[in-house]
Amino acid sequence: MKVIIVENYEEMSEVACEIIAEQIKEKPNSIIGLATGSSPVRTYELLIEEYQKKEISFKDVTTFNLDEYIGLDYDHPQSYHYFMNDVLFSKIDIDLNNTNFPDTIGDLDVNVAAYNKKLYENQIDLQLLGIGSNGHIAFNEPGTSFDSETHVVELTKETKEDNKRFFNSIEEVPTTALTMGIKSIMNAKKILILASGLNKAQAIKELLEGIETTDLPASILMSHPEVILVCDEASASLLEDVEEAVE
Ligand code: GLP
Repeated sequence: MKVIIVENYEEMSEVACEIIAEQIKEKPNSIIGLATGSSPVRTYELLIEEYQKKEISFKDVTTFNLDEYIGLDYDHPQSYHYFMNDVLFSKIDIDLNNTNFPDTIGDLDVNVAAYNKKLYENQIDLQLLGIGSNGHIAFNEPGTSFDSETHVVELTKETKEDNKRFFNSIEEVPTTALTMGIKSIMNAKKILILASGLNKAQAIKELLEGIETTDLPASILMSHPEVILVCDEASASLLEDVEEAVE
């Protein structure tokens, strides 16, 4: 794992934007895995700027999103479909037919099989990830098998607490979601993971201690051949020996 420690969220976003833009320039029909949450928001804004400057085009890009809440319509402002359209897709030249999500409306078994099939047929070139304060990736909560594919998850109390800031109250936070599994995430050719803020510091410390355990879903990333972790100083603040952690 290559670790890049930067000063703050803005710098983290600049590094992430550069890596994604580079990927699209090198391979205009890249398949990119996208994440939601606050970590990538500024990265998406900077990518929109790159698009506006005509540095990159998304017209041949295909995207796969990591997860979606069960129980929210796609026009609900907190659904991940809405979020992606709002923060990125509506502001770039991507063909919406090339954007993919785990589908939570309709028969979930059918939708799960369909998403796994698509993921088998389309190896992700670059997967963008955030990390939960409990070390989850996508909505793969602690205890999830490293062999998991797309599946329904029961969100942990911690995740609901973390995400309640987007809702009026914790009661409104959905209790279940559909998520890409850890095996599918690990199948990406390259992974870019972003961490910002003090509430991620414990998870980042445990991740870089290098012990592979399903208690910390992100720990599996250490065994992937091409991962870049970009973290700000706050999320890196519990690293005692930063030198050692940085490749
Ligand atoms: C959410 C998402 C994850 C995201 C994580 C961190 O629960 N399902 O994909 O990486 O939480 O979110 P944030 O970036 O807002 O801290």
